Amino acid sequence: MSNTEKMNVAVIFGGQSSEHEVSRVSVTMVLNNIDREKYNVYMTGITKDGRWYLYEGAIDQIASGAWETSGKTTQAFLSPDAALHGMVIMREGGAETVRLDAVFPVMHGKNGEDGTVQGLCELAHIPCVGCDLTSSAVCLDKALTNTVLEYAGILQAKFIWFYATDFENRTDEMLEQIENGLGYPCFVKPANAGSSVGISKCADRGEVIDAVRKAALHDRKIVVEENITGQEVEVAVLGNDDPITSVVGEIIPAADWYDYDAKYNDEQSRLLIPANLSEETSELIRSRAVQAYKALGCSGMARVDFLVRKSDGQPMLNEPNTLPGFTEISMYPKLFEASGIGKKELIDRLISLAIERAGSR
Ligand SMILES: Nc1ncnc2c1ncn2[C@@H]1O[C@H](COP(=O)(O)OP(=O)(O)O)[C@@H](O)[C@H]1O
Ligand SMILES: [Mg+2]
Repeated sequence: MSNTEKMNVAVIFGGQSSEHEVSRVSVTMVLNNIDREKYNVYMTGITKDGRWYLYEGAIDQIASGAWETSGKTTQAFLSPDAALHGMVIMREGGAETVRLDAVFPVMHGKNGEDGTVQGLCELAHIPCVGCDLTSSAVCLDKALTNTVLEYAGILQAKFIWFYATDFENRTDEMLEQIENGLGYPCFVKPANAGSSVGISKCADRGEVIDAVRKAALHDRKIVVEENITGQEVEVAVLGNDDPITSVVGEIIPAADWYDYDAKYNDEQSRLLIPANLSEETSELIRSRAVQAYKALGCSGMARVDFLVRKSDGQPMLNEPNTLPGFTEISMYPKLFEASGIGKKELIDRLISLAIERAGSR
């Protein structure tokens, strides 16, 4: 393929998110595996305070954050202008514009996985990898996700949600609701966060009160769920209207539950592919994942996480992730690798799916 036929893709990383650091590792994998014969890649970094830069240095400076002070950055941003259809780069001599064929946001959590960047791409009519604005926003909000899944009849933990201020004002009433409806232990979570940040497992009233305060640092909406004891498993979904699923994988967390440290710092946490499940249960998980994917309006990709309840073997949906971890050791790419779709092909398919969806809007 000659140079002029290559597609221009902006790969965006970092972002104003508690998962900024994870994004830098995820994007390293994407940049190392994207097909350079087919795509011109514009590496676009967003700092923690929300500044946008085109980065033209080495890929191995990204994971550590050293890219920011490399001297290889130029202020640049996506334009919402549909006619411009791309990016504005503030070169010394003046603004340069680049028409983009697609954007691949490799960002997790707030300000990246939550519909914000997806909405900017929709305004600019640029195909964006992964779920659209609405689905991204719904899937990042655990109160909305759980509500949609309940309506769709998909089995999940019993839950309630409330505003942190309501809890402060009517603490006893809320605690009774939690105790009568969910029991202990229960999980207290900010509705919007990610990577287990702000989540606590609580054994009594005092712990719930502390946990709600902690969660409220991340979001005004709080979700409380009953505890599900059982295997923690995940399945990768890929596609638009007719998605495919991977084999099912299992998480063996080093801690009692999969908190931030167990996810990123504890080398004892392990992934098991395929999961230690019967073929029947795996099939049930795959079909529930697709059912949830459709109910939530997902497209492109999602990793759908379940807890397989020990008491009766039922897969209970825990949460969808619309921009799952994409590091060398992350579950999503590993699951597809185990299903015969390597990293390079996976990235290529994701970009094609984004272009296909944009064409059918
Ligand atoms: N209802 C639950 N029952 C048992 N464990 C849970 C429950 N909810 C969450 N967990 C544990 O907490 C971890 C983080 O919760 P999750 O809802 O996946 O948040 P995040 O979006 O931050 O990943 C899960 O991976 C699991 O180990
Ligand atoms: Mg999770």
